[in-house]
Amino acid sequence: MAILAVDNVSKRFGGLVAVDSVSFSVAEGEILGIIGPNGAGKTTLFGLISGFMPPSAGDVKFDGASIVGVAPHLLVRRGLSRSFQIVQTFADMSTLDVVTTAALVRRPLLEAIDYAGHVLARVGLQGKEHLTPKQLSLQDKKLLEVAKCVATDPRLVLLDEVMAGLTLAETEAPLAVIRELNAQGVTIVMIEHVMPVIMRLAQRMIVLNFGAKIAEGTPQEIVENKAVVDAYFGDHVDA
Ligand SMILES: Nc1ncnc2c1ncn2[C@@H]1O[C@H](COP(=O)(O)OP(=O)(O)OP(=O)(O)O)[C@@H](O)[C@H]1O
Ligand SMILES: [Mg+2]
Repeated sequence: MAILAVDNVSKRFGGLVAVDSVSFSVAEGEILGIIGPNGAGKTTLFGLISGFMPPSAGDVKFDGASIVGVAPHLLVRRGLSRSFQIVQTFADMSTLDVVTTAALVRRPLLEAIDYAGHVLARVGLQGKEHLTPKQLSLQDKKLLEVAKCVATDPRLVLLDEVMAGLTLAETEAPLAVIRELNAQGVTIVMIEHVMPVIMRLAQRMIVLNFGAKIAEGTPQEIVENKAVVDAYFGDHVDA
């Protein structure tokens, strides 16, 4: 059974249709990639799935049950966790406190603190437990976003451009974390602009353009799809 089923979901902001009747499903254990030009509706789609805003139309099912109208913190408890494209920083908290807060979703305080330390080490932030997010590099801030998700023990994670702005070499650490998470059975849906990265990671991809899904397939099928090349790659692809 699909762990996530998005059924004809739309979101309107006034006259703008940011997400336009999008449908897709994700099998348990899968890594699905989402790509599309700036403003295509990718982050809005994550907001609709993760309960941060209601869809204007359509349904989202997690584990077979509709989750439309269910608050984000309740979805996190059920195992659906998301990262934020704009890295959320709590200026006065240490990275350990930030991740501990996430771990409190499922654990009592002392256990959560202990677990947060493990998660920070696992994403490669060991030794940086007492820094505030403001003191972290962009790469480390992204790793912190991933750590926040991991600490909630998710079954499904939605990762929004956790590798954007990193050099290819810098993507190795988050890439390894995502692979390891997936190897443990966590289902992953990731928005990513860094094509070489998403091509290596995703088993299947969907492409959004002006809010609508214009293609779905394996990474190979996607790069060979004419509509995708026109919409997304544009001038970047050699003819
Ligand atoms: N809260 C909002 N109110 C009004 N318009 C919005 C809101 N959020 C997003 N939009 C608009 O919806 C469209 C889709 O935005 P969204 O952020 O989902 O795109 P995206 O695919 O994530 O883009 P990017 O690649 O730049 O992150 C854009 O035109 C954006 O300006
Ligand atoms: Mg976005």
